[in-house]
Amino acid sequence: MSLLFHQHRMWTHHDVAGYSLMSPEECELIASQIPENAGPEFRVLEIGTYNGASAAHVLSKRPRISWLGIDIFRAEPAFATMCFLANRAKHKNLNCFIGSARQWLAWQGPAARADLVIVDGGHSEAECRDDLDVASQVSTTIICHDYGVRCFPGIVKAVDEFPGWRIVERERSAVLLQPEAMP
Ligand SMILES: C[S@@+](CC[C@H](N)C(=O)[O-])C[C@H]1O[C@@H](n2cnc3c(N)ncnc32)[C@H](O)[C@@H]1O
Repeated sequence: MSLLFHQHRMWTHHDVAGYSLMSPEECELIASQIPENAGPEFRVLEIGTYNGASAAHVLSKRPRISWLGIDIFRAEPAFATMCFLANRAKHKNLNCFIGSARQWLAWQGPAARADLVIVDGGHSEAECRDDLDVASQVSTTIICHDYGVRCFPGIVKAVDEFPGWRIVERERSAVLLQPEAMP
């Protein structure tokens, strides 16, 4: 198991391959941002999808939406990809871009958009800030994970100093961010 995961709690979810690094309550915050009857036009982007376990858990509640996980598969690559494929076998609308969020944005070009972006990739201040920057270019709703977790101080700094955005809701270490200009 990699060093990163020694810092995390883990959860298993029913009918999901691998373990999730998000609690059921944090997954519920994600689901609460997706209309119950949302279809494939609703796009979720998860920067740092790991084994797709949190994705599969939320997809079990919102089965028709489109979910794109982005990951460089730095952590436990064999286990993560194997579980991701198992989760994808159950949820055909779960896809993956292998690379960074910035590479995905360059590949997508100006058409890139998402209804919700989950930021849970690199956990340093610089990586989190860069992922927030990409997220803010494609969406007006961001959920950032591991906010306030003692061993990731860079995440609090990146979120609190991210210009023009504010925290509007918090569930454990998941914070929901929206532009300050939004009512
Ligand atoms: C904490 S795990 C994600 C957990 C997952 N969201 C969940 O809920 O179970 C972080 C993931 O981010 C990936 N990662 C690290 N740096 C990244 C980067 N710059 N771009 C994309 N993914 C990255 C790692 O490979 C790892 O799989």
